[in-house]
Amino acid sequence: MQRPSRSDLAVHWGLNPDCVFLNHGSFGATPSKITQEQRGWQDLLEFEPVYFYMVEAIEPMVKARNALSKMLSCDPDDLALIENATTGVNTVLRSLTFNKGDEILVPDHAYQACRNSLDYVAKRWGAKVVTVAIPFPIAGPHIVMDAMMAAVTPATVLAMIDTVTSPTGLRMPFEQLTNALERKGVRVLLDAAHGIGMVPLSLDELGASYTTSNNHKWLCAPKGSAFLHVRKDRQHDIHPLTISHGMTFPLGGMTRFRHEFDWTGTRDLSAHCTIPATIDFMAGLLEGGWPAIMQHNHDLAIQGRNILCDALNIEPPCPDEMIACISTLLLPPNEHTNSVSSHEFDPLQTILREKYGIQVPVWTWESPKGRYVRISAQLYNNEEEYHYLAFALKQELAFERNV
Ligand SMILES: Cc1ncc(COP(=O)(O)O)c(C=O)c1O
Repeated sequence: MQRPSRSDLAVHWGLNPDCVFLNHGSFGATPSKITQEQRGWQDLLEFEPVYFYMVEAIEPMVKARNALSKMLSCDPDDLALIENATTGVNTVLRSLTFNKGDEILVPDHAYQACRNSLDYVAKRWGAKVVTVAIPFPIAGPHIVMDAMMAAVTPATVLAMIDTVTSPTGLRMPFEQLTNALERKGVRVLLDAAHGIGMVPLSLDELGASYTTSNNHKWLCAPKGSAFLHVRKDRQHDIHPLTISHGMTFPLGGMTRFRHEFDWTGTRDLSAHCTIPATIDFMAGLLEGGWPAIMQHNHDLAIQGRNILCDALNIEPPCPDEMIACISTLLLPPNEHTNSVSSHEFDPLQTILREKYGIQVPVWTWESPKGRYVRISAQLYNNEEEYHYLAFALKQELAFERNV
């Protein structure tokens, strides 16, 4: 089968033309115009470093926070500009205090790095991590709601939930869950790594105590740009992982939260500085702006999933309403499924990359147990690419069956 082409919009990305890139979900991909813009900020910094940090960087950082807050319907002062979602999760978990026996809820689909952070913190305080089993395949969002709410006890103090899960690509009913949990007095830490640019987020209305999201994934900003939103009444508890000048800096009309997170030591601010340009540039690529981008990517993810399901003769593992812009399918187990840990690629991922030039994740997950392939859909992708992946998977799975 012939190598597929990308969509017309792919000209805006500098992606390797020899790669069928179906893994926007892992690290995103940034349009060339924005990487150039980022280099401009880096050049400005190196032109006069002291003046940049002391004077020039202040306005673009305010503009970045304002642009994000507009998209997220929240107060810009409730946003901390951080480097990635793992940092956001760690910042919250390592700031909080727990009592012995406190319970923290987490679905078994949680991202392993964040789960590690949770286990580490819980162990130190003698708190208990309660893992909630969510099936996959799944009949609908009510299954998640019922399982999570049934696990709440008087000892539950916190729940870490995803907007969209990483291994299983499920859009969680995070709005209803957040509402129900916070109303019961359970603080919600929303892992929205797959959040901004992928699903509409209205943070003031959502009411989660803490939300962290990567800008580098679905907003397509450069790497090293994420945010942590903390509800005003929770801000006094939360401090950056790096304590710096902001802890004692005179307030001068700004909150301690802002001071502490604005300066966490010398760091590269260039990715954050590009945020307004990234939001505007991406919105300009499709008539209808961001809502149209999210809809487009959602439709393409479903189309891609259906192409694969038809070709491989499998049932979609979840209803369409649980798909955002990534979709995971269950593959038949192979001889490696029990030996490959979630930290390693399945050998099939390497074969797809080396033999067909396809970049798509294939992994084994312990609970819900399965061997998964996860596709992504972004503006540069095209229906043809999923047909090509279906062709490659059919060949390789037939080969696995016969060995
Ligand atoms: C659900 C989820 N949480 C957290 C992360 C961590 O993101 P980062 O490595 O940028 O911190 C990811 C990354 O893929 C993710 O999918």
